[in-house]
Amino acid sequence: MVVRIRKYLLNLWLFINDYIYLIRSLSNHYNKSNLERQILLLSHALEKGMTFKEKKTGWGKEKCMTLCNYTEQYLTNNAILSDVLIYSINIINNYKNDPKASKDSVLLSRISGITNKYKNVICCTPSVKIVEKPHLFENEAILDFFNSRYSVRNFSDKEVTNEEIQQAVSFAKCTPTACNRQSSRVYVFKNKETINKILDNQLGNQGWCDKAGAIVVLTGVQSYFSGGYERNQVFIDGGLFAMNLVYGFHLQHIATCFKMYVRSPKLDENFRNICGIPGNEQPIVLILCGHYCEEVTLSTASKRFNTPLQVDGESIM
Ligand SMILES: Cc1cc2nc3c(=O)[nH]c(=O)nc-3n(C[C@H](O)[C@H](O)[C@H](O)COP(=O)(O)O)c2cc1C
Repeated sequence: MVVRIRKYLLNLWLFINDYIYLIRSLSNHYNKSNLERQILLLSHALEKGMTFKEKKTGWGKEKCMTLCNYTEQYLTNNAILSDVLIYSINIINNYKNDPKASKDSVLLSRISGITNKYKNVICCTPSVKIVEKPHLFENEAILDFFNSRYSVRNFSDKEVTNEEIQQAVSFAKCTPTACNRQSSRVYVFKNKETINKILDNQLGNQGWCDKAGAIVVLTGVQSYFSGGYERNQVFIDGGLFAMNLVYGFHLQHIATCFKMYVRSPKLDENFRNICGIPGNEQPIVLILCGHYCEEVTLSTASKRFNTPLQVDGESIM
C-alpha cells in the first residue's frame, strides 16, 4: 500500500512538472518560432483547401487574411526570410490564382502588398501535387528490409560520417506530420566526452551505450502544439520521425538502438544544458548508432507476438 501511494505521489509530482513545462514552452520567449508555426498551419490549411474538388466561392478568405497578417508581422520583425516564409508567400500567391478564392478587394490588396514586395521569392512552387497510384513494389525485398533491422548494442570504431547522418535525416523527412508542422529536430553527438555526459545523465550506459559512435537526440518543438487537446502530438510526430530515421540508418548499414529518454525535472534540466536544447523543445528519444562490428554480435530475440486486431468489433486474428 505504501509503495502504491508513493508511486501515485511521484506521478502527481511528475504531472505537475509536465504541466509547468507545457505552460513555459508556450511563453512569449518563443514568439518567433510560434509565429512561424501559425504561418505553417494556415499555409497548410490553404494548400489543403486548394486540393478539394468542390469549393465554395470565396473559400478561405478569413484564413488567407490571417495568414497575410501573420506573414506581415513576421516580415516586419525579421529581415531574413526563412524557408517557411518563402513557402507561405508562394501559397498566398497561389491562393490568389485559385478561381474560387475570395476576390474581396481588401484581401486582394493585402495579398498584392506581400506578393509585389517579395516577388523575387515567388517561384513555380505548386501548393498541390498530383497523386498517382505507386508502381508495383518488390514486396519480398521490402519485407526483408524491415525484417533485417534489429536493435544492435555493439558497434565498431568506424566513424558515422556527417554525410551518413544527413542521408538518414533525408529519409526521415518523408515522415508525415500533424498539419505538416514538421516539429522534429535532430542533435547528434560524436564527441566521447559529451556522449558520456549524456549517458551519465540518462542513468548510465547499461553496459553497452558507450560503444556507440554517435548519439542522436531527437526532439520535437512542443510550442508548435498549442497545449490543450494537442499536447501529446509532439510525441507522436517525433515517434514516427524517429522510426524513419532509424530506417534511414539501416538503409546505409548503420546499426542502431533506441534508448528511452528518462524524464525527471532535474535530469531534464541537466540534459538540456549538456545538449543545448531550448526550453520549447521536448526530448523524444535517443538513438545510439554506429557501424557493425566484424565479430559476431548477439541481439535480443525480441519475438513478436500477434497484434490484437479487430475489424468492426470482430477479432480477426
Ligand atoms: C522507444 C524505445 C526505447 C527503447 N529503449 C531502450 C533502452 O533504453 N535500452 C535498450 O537496451 N533498448 C531499448 N529499446 C530497444 C527495444 O528493447 C527493442 O527495440 C525491442 O526489444 C525490439 O527489438 P528489435 O529492435 O531488435 O526489433 C528501445 C526501443 C524503443 C522503441
